[in-house]
Amino acid sequence: MAAQAAAGTWVLVLSLWGAAAIVSSRNVTARMGEPLVLNCKGAPKKPPQELEWKLNTGRTEAWKVLSPQGAPWDSVAHILPNGSLLLPAVGIQDEGTFRCRATNRHGKETKSSYRVRVYQIPAKPEIIDPASELTAGVPNKVGTCVSEGSYPAGTLSWHLDGKPLTPDGKGVTIKEQMRRHPETGLFTLQSELVVTPARGGAVRPTFFCSFSPGLPRQKALHATPIHPSVWEPVSPENVQLVVEPEGGAVALGGTVTLTCEAPAQAASEIHWVKDGAPLPLPASAVLLLPEVGPQDQGSYSCVATSPSHGSQESPAVRVRITETDEVGQSPGSMEGSGLRTLALALGTLAALGIVALLIGVVMWQRRRQGKERKAPESQEEEEERAELNQSEEPETAESGAGGP
Ligand SMILES: *[C@@H]1O[C@H](CO)[C@@H](O)[C@H](O)[C@H]1NC(C)=O
Ligand SMILES: *[C@@H]1O[C@H](CO)[C@@H](O)[C@H](O)[C@H]1NC(C)=O
Repeated sequence: MAAQAAAGTWVLVLSLWGAAAIVSSRNVTARMGEPLVLNCKGAPKKPPQELEWKLNTGRTEAWKVLSPQGAPWDSVAHILPNGSLLLPAVGIQDEGTFRCRATNRHGKETKSSYRVRVYQIPAKPEIIDPASELTAGVPNKVGTCVSEGSYPAGTLSWHLDGKPLTPDGKGVTIKEQMRRHPETGLFTLQSELVVTPARGGAVRPTFFCSFSPGLPRQKALHATPIHPSVWEPVSPENVQLVVEPEGGAVALGGTVTLTCEAPAQAASEIHWVKDGAPLPLPASAVLLLPEVGPQDQGSYSCVATSPSHGSQESPAVRVRITETDEVGQSPGSMEGSGLRTLALALGTLAALGIVALLIGVVMWQRRRQGKERKAPESQEEEEERAELNQSEEPETAESGAGGP
């Protein structure tokens, strides 16, 4: 009797066949595996009865007729002594239409009609592979919701902080899958959720998924919610320090503006560091140095701090005072040190070059003196070489000359 829980409305119509008959029509839902009793309205409570059941279900080819006198049908359904029809264990194949026509002791005919739908309640949905951490600004797989053993299929839906999530092709993507068990006919539903959390959004959002039954008047089932934490990606290259004027070179009494560029984070605080020591200033993304004096020179960096992700420091920027004509072309700290290294290298090379030149000059002097002394002997050879159009090679000349 519990299976008859869902009651339809009574509909009175005029019979098309002969005498006026009362027809009751009901939609009945029955849970799989449970017994179902359908009453034959207007039938005498005890035999002898004048009644007939007709059914058209997944088990019948067309209308099948059952009468109290007939044999029980395949133990699937049989007529009880009071005229009701009993299905001991309802299956998916029993979905269909059941009709009874009964005539009471006074000859009055009553028809009852039932539309039977079968359902099965699935297990509570579960979120498998739940994400414990999501990264803001990029698509993340939140988890896969699985509902097993439903009939009819029903649907799965995702909720974020209590609000339903609908796929929008941008921030929310839902991939759904449905499988049907070949023997039981029950459905397994899967729904994979991918979201792109907004930067600066909720730090610990709540996700859950629900199973909504395919038949009305049945309760939704909710999975245990998950609470992944949202991680705002902050890496050293993301925290940047911009200095104005560019390069950090300023004339005495000029103004320097340092701006710390950190990713948008509701909870991030920015502090300043000069020559490795924190500056006792209120948190601010901009540090203004007006009327720059010698004491303002140094290496500056900013530190972005958020409670969830710790501190990230920017690369350092050097502020220095320059000659007026140097402003604008002098490089900043990073480039400056590079150029200094280059200058040092070039200086060393130049020094080496001068030494080499000096050695060359000294050797040339000595060779000249030697040639002058040996000139008479080597005169012929010099002339031969000139004829062969060879380039002058003093060393060969000298050794050749010194040979004999
Ligand atoms: C039974 O359900 C069908 C649809 O499933 C609906 O059209 C019809 O009105 C319902 N009948 C009753 C009596 O509730
Ligand atoms: C007929 O008998 C069945 C089982 O005993 C019972 O569930 C059902 O309510 C009865 N029907 C009527 C109309 O009394």
